[in-house]
Amino acid sequence: MSDEAFQREITARYDAPMYRAMLEVWGDQIHPGLLESEDEELYPAAVKATERLAELAEIRNGIHVLETACGVGGTARFLAATMGCRVTATNISRGQLETSVEWTEGKPGADLISYEFANFEELAYDDASFDVYWCQDALLFSTARSTAIAEAARVVKLGGTIAITDLTVAGDPDAATTAMLADISKPGFWSLESYREALDAAGFDVIASEDWTRHVLPSFLRIRADIIAKKDQLAAIAGVAEVEDTIERYHLWCDAAATGNLGWGAVAGRKRET
Ligand SMILES: C[S@@+](CC[C@H](N)C(=O)[O-])C[C@H]1O[C@@H](n2cnc3c(N)ncnc32)[C@H](O)[C@@H]1O
Repeated sequence: MSDEAFQREITARYDAPMYRAMLEVWGDQIHPGLLESEDEELYPAAVKATERLAELAEIRNGIHVLETACGVGGTARFLAATMGCRVTATNISRGQLETSVEWTEGKPGADLISYEFANFEELAYDDASFDVYWCQDALLFSTARSTAIAEAARVVKLGGTIAITDLTVAGDPDAATTAMLADISKPGFWSLESYREALDAAGFDVIASEDWTRHVLPSFLRIRADIIAKKDQLAAIAGVAEVEDTIERYHLWCDAAATGNLGWGAVAGRKRET
């Protein structure tokens, strides 16, 4: 069951000027990167994570991908332009969908992409209508993750794949760290193992699982440093107070990452006959 009040909160956050401003930091890849150190740049490392997930999902030319929580369409453009995939890219943020359309116009592969409004917990697509289900760094915003994964299993064809990356809980956090993690994500984080179990329960054989936790702290340190470096530019879009609040929030994310218990990982599965 979707938590509508929470989803309105998330939509408001992604539709707000501060999030538009944050695109100056993220570019069109709104997720951590495979950085080894905070001295590396975020964007190419974030693209690397997308490329790696495409390998794990066995993406091939000509297949039809359903991307949920598509951000501003960075991955959809990547899959269409470099892999020749048809992509139905969906989101609950109408502001981000508008940006996606704007940023896709005239780009390679634009005719292969359609942007549509969809809540990943209640997909209005037919059973077995996609070759691949793709969701990057967004299920952390779900209060009904098993429902979302069951929806994925419903819309993917037999033999098709699912590809997910998400922030996770890694290891065995103590009480103080547990409280810190609860502070930064209301629905709470799953472990990578919980994702593997949920894929299996929904009818996917797990074909890949990679722990990317060592990249979390460098990613968040880099993101925070970039926000601070671009403070004036961001404030011109969203106002000084919003930027200060965002920096405060990223202090919390960095503190959580420094514990080693804020994880990140990728899982992929193939839909089996039931
Ligand atoms: C951290 S961003 C990741 C965006 C994109 N996947 C990427 O990696 O660039 C999280 C995204 O999840 C979307 N989102 C959150 N809850 C959602 C839901 N219930 N259904 C669909 N999208 C959702 C947000 O609007 C936002 O675009």
